[in-house]
Amino acid sequence: VSGVRKAACIGGGVIGAGWAARLAWHGIDVTVCDPHPEAERRCRIVLANGEWAMARLYGAPVGEPGAVAFTTDIAEAVADADFVQESAPEDIPLKQAILAEIDRHAPAVALVCSSTSGLRPTVLQSVMDRPGRFMVGHPFNPVYLLPLVEVCGGEKTDAAAIDRAITFYRSLGMQPLHVRTEIDGFIADRLMEALWREALWLVNDGVATVAEIDDAVRYGPGLRWAMMGTFLTYRIAGGEDGMRHFMRQFGPALQWPWTKLTDVPDLTDDLIDRIATQSDEQADGVELRDLERQRDDGLVAIMQALKPLGIGAGAVLADQERARVGARAPVTPDLSVAAPLCLHTARVLPEWTDYNGHMTEHRYLQVFGDAADALFAAVGVDAAYLAGGHSYYTVESHLRHLGEAPADVPLHVETQLLDHDAKRIHAFHRLVRSDTDTLLATAEQLYLHVDTKEGRVCDAPEAVRDRLAAIAAAHGDLPLPDGAGRSVGLRRQVAAE
Ligand SMILES: NC(=O)c1ccc[n+]([C@@H]2O[C@H](COP(=O)([O-])OP(=O)(O)OC[C@H]3O[C@@H](n4cnc5c(N)ncnc54)[C@H](O)[C@@H]3O)[C@@H](O)[C@H]2O)c1
Repeated sequence: VSGVRKAACIGGGVIGAGWAARLAWHGIDVTVCDPHPEAERRCRIVLANGEWAMARLYGAPVGEPGAVAFTTDIAEAVADADFVQESAPEDIPLKQAILAEIDRHAPAVALVCSSTSGLRPTVLQSVMDRPGRFMVGHPFNPVYLLPLVEVCGGEKTDAAAIDRAITFYRSLGMQPLHVRTEIDGFIADRLMEALWREALWLVNDGVATVAEIDDAVRYGPGLRWAMMGTFLTYRIAGGEDGMRHFMRQFGPALQWPWTKLTDVPDLTDDLIDRIATQSDEQADGVELRDLERQRDDGLVAIMQALKPLGIGAGAVLADQERARVGARAPVTPDLSVAAPLCLHTARVLPEWTDYNGHMTEHRYLQVFGDAADALFAAVGVDAAYLAGGHSYYTVESHLRHLGEAPADVPLHVETQLLDHDAKRIHAFHRLVRSDTDTLLATAEQLYLHVDTKEGRVCDAPEAVRDRLAAIAAAHGDLPLPDGAGRSVGLRRQVAAE
C-alpha cells in the first residue's frame, strides 16, 4: 500500500529498536545505524521480544519478515531507503546534525521522520535542504505493540508528505494522530507530564510511595483510560445527564487548591534517592527484561481482549488483521511436483498449551482452520471474494492426535486435495512439527461452497473450480494418505483361529 520496501532506523536504542521490530515484522528490510558498540546486541534483544509479542498479537506474519542489518554509517543506512525514522538522543544540535546528514544521503523521495518526544519539527527541519519531507512521528514504548504515533509537521513540511506518512504508519498497524498545531510535547506527552508532575509532588510531600501511586492508576483509572481516554470516561461519569452535568458538578473543583501542576518539585538528591529507593522496592528484584516481558504480555492481553469488542486499541488491531488478510498475496502453489501443498506455518504459543504443557485440543482445529483458509486463498477465495458474499464453510472434520506439541515449537501443515466438485472440497491435512519432522495430527475435512447472504450452498465459480482442478491434477497420483477415510471407533483384533 505504502510502497515502502526499505527503511533506515537512525539510532537503535529503546525506540529505534522497537521501530526496527515493527517494520521488519511487516516485511520491510531495515538498516539500523547506531555508533554504540553494544547497539546490535541490545537491539537484537528488543527484536526478539518484539517478534515474540507480535506473533501473539497478530498470529503468524503474512509474508516473509524483513531483514535487519546494522551499520554505524548514516550515509550507508539511508542510501536506498524509502523511509527513514530518526530515534537518536533527545538533543537538538545532535538531532539537527544527524538530520542534515540523512537529508544529504537519502533518496529525494524518502520520507524522514523523527521520534522526538517533544522537540518542534520546525526547529529540527531548519537544517535540511529538503524540509518538505520531514515531520515528527512520535511513537510510544514499546513501539512494536502500542498503536499510537503522533504525526506533527513543521512550518516547511508538505501536506502531501504528512498524508504519505499517515498512510504508511497505518499500514504498520498503527493509529496515527495528526497533531495539527505544532506545540512542544505534542498531545500525549503533555497529558502524561501533567500526571507525572502531580505524582512527583505526592512523593515529595510524603503523601504516598511510588508503588501506592502506581496502584492508584492501575487498579482504577488506568483500566478505563485504555478503552476510553479521559473525556468519554467523564461523560459516562455524568450519568444520564452526560457531559454538561459532569462539567457543572465537578468543574468548580478545578478551582480548589488541589493541584500543583504549574510547579515542579525541586529534584533534590534527597527526592531522587527517595524515588529510586522506593522504585527498587517496588520492582522487588525483578529484572528489566522480565518487566518488559510482563508489560508486553499485559499489553497483548488487553488489546486481544478489546479486539472482539471493537474498542480503542482493539479496534485498530481488528482493522489491521482484516487488512493483512486482504493484503495477503495470493499463494500460487507449486504444482510442478506431485506433493501435498505446504501453505500454512505457525508456532505453538504459550497460551495454546494446557495443564499437560502441550497444545490443547481446540488449537489443533484452529491450525487446521488456518490451513484450510490458506487453501481457499490459493484457489482465489480472498478478502474481495468473501466481501462479495461467497465463502467455503467447514461441515465435517475428523481429527487424529498423534504427537505432542509443546510451546514454541514450529509447525507446518501439508495439505492434500482428495476430491472436489462444484460445491464441495474434500481435503486431508497433516500437521507436522517442523524442527523434528514429526507428524503431530491429521485432519480430514469437507468444505461446502456457500452464498453467505442467502445462507445456502451454491456452485463455486469457474475460476475457483479451475484452480481446484489444477491442484487435483497435480495430486491425482498421490497415494491416499495414511488415516484417510478413518472413522472413530475401537479396532478389535479378530482372534485368529
Ligand atoms: N524512551 C521512550 O519512552 C521514548 C518514547 C517516545 C519517543 N522517544 C524519543 O526517541 C528518541 C530516542 O530515545 P530512546 O529512548 O530510544 O533513547 P536511547 O538512549 O535508548 O537510544 C538512543 C540511541 O541513539 C544512539 N545514537 C547516539 N548518537 C547517534 C548518532 N550520531 N547516530 C545514530 N545513533 C546515535 C545511541 O547510541 C542510542 O543507542 C528520543 O528522541 C526520545 O525523545 C523516547
